[in-house]
Amino acid sequence: MAEMLTEENASKPATPSFRRGPNMIAVASGKGGVGKTWFSITLSHALAREGKKVLLFDGDLGLANIDVQLGLMPKRDLNDVIRGRLGLDKVIQEYEDGGFDIVAGRSGQASLSALPSQRLALLRDQLIEVAKNYDAVIIDLGAGVERNVRMLAASAAQTLLVVTDEPTSLTDAYAFIKLGSAAGQSKNVGVVVNQATSAVEGEKTYKTLLKACQNFLRLTPPLAGMVRLDPRVKETIRHQTPLLTRSPNTEAAEDVEKIARRVIKSIAETSKKAAQA
Ligand SMILES: Nc1ncnc2c1ncn2[C@@H]1O[C@H](COP(=O)(O)OP(=O)(O)O)[C@@H](O)[C@H]1O
Ligand SMILES: [Mg+2]
Repeated sequence: MAEMLTEENASKPATPSFRRGPNMIAVASGKGGVGKTWFSITLSHALAREGKKVLLFDGDLGLANIDVQLGLMPKRDLNDVIRGRLGLDKVIQEYEDGGFDIVAGRSGQASLSALPSQRLALLRDQLIEVAKNYDAVIIDLGAGVERNVRMLAASAAQTLLVVTDEPTSLTDAYAFIKLGSAAGQSKNVGVVVNQATSAVEGEKTYKTLLKACQNFLRLTPPLAGMVRLDPRVKETIRHQTPLLTRSPNTEAAEDVEKIARRVIKSIAETSKKAAQA
């Protein structure tokens, strides 16, 4: 992915992307309900189908729902880690249908969403350690721009920011990039346009966000990919079955697989830089 160094972020002591988990990808969105969890699951699945060893981490600390979309009943979850009962490695579960591993969160647990940053830093450090056992780690972040979300995003070498053509999705995504840019992190953000009704419409959505970033932040976040609006997505979520199991040949599946192949390339490049450093 293209990196653009502007004067603004050159002066900030940004952590080089390869010093963070080089194989860690955060999936973010300004606004909720854009398809972040669904995309994180499907991307993990696509990477697994390419033969990669993948961990999907439910980092939406307040509204965890990877388990819900997949119809899982986790016996252990992040709450056990936060409470110090178990190490992060002990709550990883195999998701056999998809061929990847999952760390489940817990929905509606106030102690998780309001985690003090020191606690979150410990969790992040454990995640970076665990990530060494994988080819790729996908983090499904909470919506919004609050500090905890940005801190988890900052542990990843790359962030995929999911947007739709809804105006609020775009303004919130812009806010995410703007706050990240203040912390010197925005050059590792790629945009995923989800629920695109056509390639032309998807391109338009991306351009709208891009123009705002160029005009006001002097940043050029690259387009990481587009995913078409596809009725099969809703259907498979209703059946609590992954899209790539139930409808592997549908449009949205093809789109995510394309993004997965790009992600594999960019992880390889980042890991190479990390090894040389
Ligand atoms: N590409 C798509 N095509 C059609 N519907 C989609 C697509 N992506 C997401 N959705 C719909 O958006 C809803 C919200 O998805 P979810 O992953 O829960 O969002 P978030 O994690 O951002 O809150 C899903 O239930 C699904 O119906
Ligand atoms: Mg979600």
